[in-house]
Amino acid sequence: MTARRLRSIAPFHVMALLARARRLEAEGRTIVHMEIGEPDFVTPEPIVRAGIEALQAGHTHYTPARGLVALREAIAGHYQVTFGVSVSAERILVTPGASGALQLINAALVDPGSRVLMTDPGYPCNRNFVHLYGGEPVSVPVTAEQAYQLDADSLSAHWTDNTVAALIASPSNPTGAVLPRARMIEVLQAVRARGGFLIVDEIYQNLYYDHPPYTALEFGEDLFVINSFSKYFGMTGWRLGWLVAPEAFVEPLDILAQNMFLAAPTPAQYAALAAFQPDTLTILEQRREAFKARRDYLMPALQALGFEIHQKPEGAFYLYADCSRFCDDSFRFAHELLETAGVAITPGIDFGSHAAERHVRFAYTTSLEQLQLGVERIAEFVQQWRCQD
Ligand SMILES: Cc1ncc(COP(=O)(O)O)c(C=O)c1O
Repeated sequence: MTARRLRSIAPFHVMALLARARRLEAEGRTIVHMEIGEPDFVTPEPIVRAGIEALQAGHTHYTPARGLVALREAIAGHYQVTFGVSVSAERILVTPGASGALQLINAALVDPGSRVLMTDPGYPCNRNFVHLYGGEPVSVPVTAEQAYQLDADSLSAHWTDNTVAALIASPSNPTGAVLPRARMIEVLQAVRARGGFLIVDEIYQNLYYDHPPYTALEFGEDLFVINSFSKYFGMTGWRLGWLVAPEAFVEPLDILAQNMFLAAPTPAQYAALAAFQPDTLTILEQRREAFKARRDYLMPALQALGFEIHQKPEGAFYLYADCSRFCDDSFRFAHELLETAGVAITPGIDFGSHAAERHVRFAYTTSLEQLQLGVERIAEFVQQWRCQD
């Protein structure tokens, strides 16, 4: 018998879709991949070199559970240089991806029955992390009018006595929506007033296209902030992220980290020491420009086909599009699009249940040429295919 909690952990539909896409490719079909939530670019060369050098120098043992002091100081330096925010390296814990950070925070905050507020649509794992600790994830439906983000009113409407935290991802997955500064402060104040904690996932922070980002760390030392080397730094497979915690939580989180994973991968930590170097940042900024060019191509191209995109993504590499003009079953739409046209996208159901059947997510994590090919194929598909057939 498996544990009961497994029943509340839902699989990602996109994984089944990706597996089907791979099978079609094995049969000789060419597939345009717009479902994948990681950069197509490989890790920048200076980071790879630093990783290889670390391995050759014998850095293959555990590090302290909180991570290398040098890396925690480099991350603190990044906050100082980029945002002018002074964060003590003591409050930074290096983790196996943002995923490791999210698990640690949930382990530290969630008791059986505790509630954690989060947006619907939102990153699907968050619900499952809360379930793992016997808590109840509370999906707060957010609309395009709210820029798909929480606000103080919706937070207050859903907060109950057993709510311990609210979680925000800005820019968000799947919408790319950024929570404006003023609203972030209002949400933080609302959470404080209720004696809870705010968790801010800033994993897509440096992938911004219109306005320079801010960090929620500007607004106090009593919140949890998560980040990662996965997306902007192009290190998904290295499994490295970090969190900044309120001082009183550092010791308990360290103890949890020791028990849950001992430490983040050592070669990855040494490699990441090169992540904030000027030569690496030059490469990463070029990539950010490439993502922006892709967004600027894809959004009007999809709108011209009849998709409604209520929110211009200001960051990340996703477009959340309303496909109801073609079909009111986005799951079916995504499957048929893959089978018939060879274009893989993610159905809205992976991100929650609020209007999920009307939405799909396009990831622009492939070249402009591939995106153009994808748009051509989608154009042909929507002209011929009928949802009711
Ligand atoms: C919003 C968000 N948070 C966290 C993660 C986890 O990323 P990682 O564990 O690779 O840092 C993802 C991955 O897609 C994400 O989209």
